[in-house]
Amino acid sequence: MTVLRRAVPLAVLLGGLCVGQPRRPDVNYDESKVPPYTLPDPFVCADGTRVTTAALWRKKRRPEVLRLFESEVYGRSPGRPRHLDFETVSVERGALGGKAVRKLVTVRFAPGRTDPQMRLLIYLPAAARGPVPLFVGLNFGGNHTVHADPGIPLAPVWVRRDEGRDLTPQIPEEKTRGMAASRWPVERILDRGYGLATAYYGDIDPDFDDGFQNGIHPLFYKPGQTRPAPDEWGSIGAWAWGLSRAMDYFERDRDVDARRVAVMGHSRLGKTALWAGAQDERFAVVISNNSGCGGAALSRRRFGETVRLINTAFPHWFCGNFKRYNDNEDALPVDQHLLLALIAPRPVYVASAEEDLWADPRGEFLSALHADPVYRLLGADGLGVREMPPVEQPVMTTIGYHIRKGKHDVTLYDWERFLDFADRHLRR
Ligand code: GCU
Repeated sequence: MTVLRRAVPLAVLLGGLCVGQPRRPDVNYDESKVPPYTLPDPFVCADGTRVTTAALWRKKRRPEVLRLFESEVYGRSPGRPRHLDFETVSVERGALGGKAVRKLVTVRFAPGRTDPQMRLLIYLPAAARGPVPLFVGLNFGGNHTVHADPGIPLAPVWVRRDEGRDLTPQIPEEKTRGMAASRWPVERILDRGYGLATAYYGDIDPDFDDGFQNGIHPLFYKPGQTRPAPDEWGSIGAWAWGLSRAMDYFERDRDVDARRVAVMGHSRLGKTALWAGAQDERFAVVISNNSGCGGAALSRRRFGETVRLINTAFPHWFCGNFKRYNDNEDALPVDQHLLLALIAPRPVYVASAEEDLWADPRGEFLSALHADPVYRLLGADGLGVREMPPVEQPVMTTIGYHIRKGKHDVTLYDWERFLDFADRHLRR
């Protein structure tokens, strides 16, 4: 790939920054204008069978719901490739002033191919005596943005220039180091006994609509195939797939406890974390931050961003079939509460922000509420409340939820709650 050296705009490095979405006349922010809707029943199978036992959920309904999300929403992903190569590029035991072990690991997906490759940045608490639980999440701007640590290599990031289709990977400038650090409180995570692993999402699939010519998709085309079929993966599917490949690596790293990995993501990467956690049951905890439409929020509410709006602005995120539901949400055979239900009985945490109306905080809460019966059928305590809790009064049951003050972002408040939730569910 050609790599240029040019200034990378701040907004590109932060991604998901859409603070204060403009109020558009075609977007509903009025609760009284949410249309009446009926959600698909978690316990009624396509053939009418009623699910009354955990065994039936497991054997019949869960696989059915998973297939529906594959064929209608995110598209089917290829699974673990036959060839997977992990190269440990470096291990620095005295990183972050002695607080951390910093590992750099490159994951490659096909023999003799270096492109695409996923560069994992992993911090582990230096004081650990044995394998540690960890958080894994993709980042928007490159690994060097998560911390000012000079030991993080500057790797190419994809940049859209002048709103055009001209995209070229560029080596970011030195001064962009640590630019997204407020979203990644690395030292705090380490102090609380967890590791943190991250990778740049553009390593797996650059986030723009190029007909799936770059990124991971072409590696899996059948002879003659030039783009994914309508029921095959889009970019969210690809990013989620990348998280599973990171999990493949954790299973081989003796310093990581692969049975105690929490997958976390913000915004489009929150949608990604949920889809990764729904498909890959190796993730012990799943955390969605401000994931909104196509994430935790119920599509049928049509509050804030809608299926049509997301498919128009980001035609590459979901599978081709998802476009059938533009202005046609009631025809969806699933809604997002069933995405959370796929994670059951594993702990899932949904975080909203009060001013992030574009992501529909109430719709995010309602998904958690309507996933609750599945958790209970499986013997977990589900969501401990029936009403949306007040701002900054987190709910910490097997389904966790909070709404915090402020805008679309990941803050220290969010992370402290994710850590509390992990302490509850991942601590020995
Ligand atoms: C846009 C998009 C959202 C998405 C967000 C992000 O606002 O409409 O669906 O969550 O970008 O990823 O930052």
